[in-house]
Amino acid sequence: METVLSGMRPTGNLHLGNYYGAARSFVKMQDEYNCFFFIADWHSLTTHPKPEDIQRSARTILAEYLACGIDPEKATIYIQSDVPETIELYLYFNMNCYLGELERVTTFKEKARQQPDNVNAGLLTYPTLMAADILQHRAAKVPVGKDQEQNMEMARKCARRFNNIYGVEFFPEPQNFYFGDHAIKIPGLDGSGKMGKSNGNCIYLYEDEKSIRKKVMRAVTDNGPEAPNSEKPEVIQNLFTLMEIASSKDTYDYFNEKWNDCSIRYGDMKKQLAEDLVNTLAPIRERIIEFSSDQDKLDKIARMGAEKARESASATLREVRKIIGFKVY
Ligand code: ADP
Ligand code: TRP
Repeated sequence: METVLSGMRPTGNLHLGNYYGAARSFVKMQDEYNCFFFIADWHSLTTHPKPEDIQRSARTILAEYLACGIDPEKATIYIQSDVPETIELYLYFNMNCYLGELERVTTFKEKARQQPDNVNAGLLTYPTLMAADILQHRAAKVPVGKDQEQNMEMARKCARRFNNIYGVEFFPEPQNFYFGDHAIKIPGLDGSGKMGKSNGNCIYLYEDEKSIRKKVMRAVTDNGPEAPNSEKPEVIQNLFTLMEIASSKDTYDYFNEKWNDCSIRYGDMKKQLAEDLVNTLAPIRERIIEFSSDQDKLDKIARMGAEKARESASATLREVRKIIGFKVY
């Protein structure tokens, strides 16, 4: 069975975009692959050197991923800082990675611009830590978005270089992986392209009914179609895209026809969309509350995940030490 690995920084609560773009695919993948999902709390130090209650943030995200349906019996779900083996591999990769190539990574350049007073070595070596995350499990596939392509290229370089330097065929070159319809992009309700935390236009998975309805009813619209069967402008297409994911096909078709014959009333459409989003999110919200209220259970799941991840990582590290020529414990 092939190994798939994905990591997420504990930067905030999960929203609809994270759910449809990532979490739901993970849930499907856990039945078909040997899956590792982890929370990249070390990586978050590159931008937030003094995090407030980092253990709590990691557990919040853990509860939300579990609520989406990631099953700790099927997949290994763990917190990065619980697996110290990662750091040893990070060190080896750093020895074979060059300043010039790390400085050329766009995300590094961007972050260096955003935080000119804190251009730290961790930020520079973000890609080698990511390579260690992936290659400690010798994962072949990594579901990531477009923004991570350069980091993935660095991970492949780390694997290739290690193999070349030591004359082995040890690490696979991990491939970017899209599960099913990778093109899915959840739009925001503000008429902008993408739902995202930094865009401030999210519907969060934990949101209650009242708040969901309020946000949907406030969604930006226009004056309505000007001619039958006309193309939908982006703001309206966004509402339809959300309806496509949350509502039944009949409901979608009903409003689509109303658009096409110019009799659509956005108020009615929003009411229906809000209703369907509330129903879609209610069970997830319930499970978030349930998981979050049982910190002991979360701790146990994190411990179990860490154990499995350490077992996998230490097997790799034993081989790596042997290959380089270090003592093996
Ligand atoms: P955010 O945009 O909220 O900061 P991240 O960039 O941390 O989210 O993304 C975490 C995961 O969720 C990634 O796999 C990303 O592809 C997915 N994702 C985030 N926003 C969306 C969206 N609007 N539509 C589809 N997938 C998304
Ligand atoms: N860099 C990823 C992000 O910002 C998070 C991440 C860290 C990751 N390590 C990883 C993703 C390993 C995949 C594999 O979203």
